[in-house]
Amino acid sequence: MILIKTEKAIQPILKNWKKKQKSTGFVPTMGALHDGHISLINACLNENDFCISSLFINPTQFNNQSDFEKYPITLEKDIAMLEAAGCNLLLLPSVTEIYPNAYIAPHYNLGYLETILEGKYRPGHFQGVCQVVDRLLDITKPGSLYLGQKDYQQCMVLKKLIEQKNYPTVLKISPTIRDNNGLALSSRNMRLTEPEKKLALQLSKKLFFIKKNIKPGNLLLLQQQMAQRLNEEGFKVDYVVIASAATLETVTHWNGEEKLVALVAAYLNEVRLIDNMLIP
Ligand code: PAJ
Repeated sequence: MILIKTEKAIQPILKNWKKKQKSTGFVPTMGALHDGHISLINACLNENDFCISSLFINPTQFNNQSDFEKYPITLEKDIAMLEAAGCNLLLLPSVTEIYPNAYIAPHYNLGYLETILEGKYRPGHFQGVCQVVDRLLDITKPGSLYLGQKDYQQCMVLKKLIEQKNYPTVLKISPTIRDNNGLALSSRNMRLTEPEKKLALQLSKKLFFIKKNIKPGNLLLLQQQMAQRLNEEGFKVDYVVIASAATLETVTHWNGEEKLVALVAAYLNEVRLIDNMLIP
């Protein structure tokens, strides 16, 4: 695996691949890698000649300073995992490489998407995500971008970014990888104690419950019940929402046909966890 730290150093490599008409896929990450990240590397390698990944803890997408400071860092293990998975190139940029002195943060027009769910509870978060992914796509110019369904709203936001900036990049979304008990793998799980990890299972349990018990008609009660139960179990719930899978607008009355996604965000002490599930 080639390790690159600067925009300048990556260009001759990309030029060479392009000259040889090789296809490239890109997997952006913030490190503290787990099998969910590696599933994206695998999907990328299955469909492309070369897989580029990046590891950059993007300061501009953290709306909470302590969350940024406590973000887990496992660099050596990450490099070993990427290498073992067959990743061809890892971009490890510094903050000034991504945001040079002359960088002026653009404003992205994300409309409704920025006012709901993660956008509502993490003000500025998606502007930061767009800033960094815009820079990374500009640097790596991949044929395909690989993202995880785990961050459902992020996928929708970045689809919008690709469209608005006319990137010639195809967005590919991979399913959420879970542990044997159903807990969605997440870098932030590393911050949980063992009892907290056990309790965290309740998040996906609520989503599985919704998927199993949902019926056409009014959905408000089901959403409220799930949020209430999580609060009783010791979470501090930001939201439990059943929404249209296409638009993310809350569905209060379901016709039984429309594709839905149930989404949850909740704090377990200081750690904020998110998960979602498509229905059906
Ligand atoms: P990070 O949280 O490191 O996630 C990197 C990619 O891995 C994202 O596309 C995310 O959806 C995916 N992912 C995380 N957990 C997953 C799981 N359990 N199964 C499948 N995929 C999973 O998301 C970010 O970083 C950042 O916002 C980033 C896009 C890199 C911009 O900074």
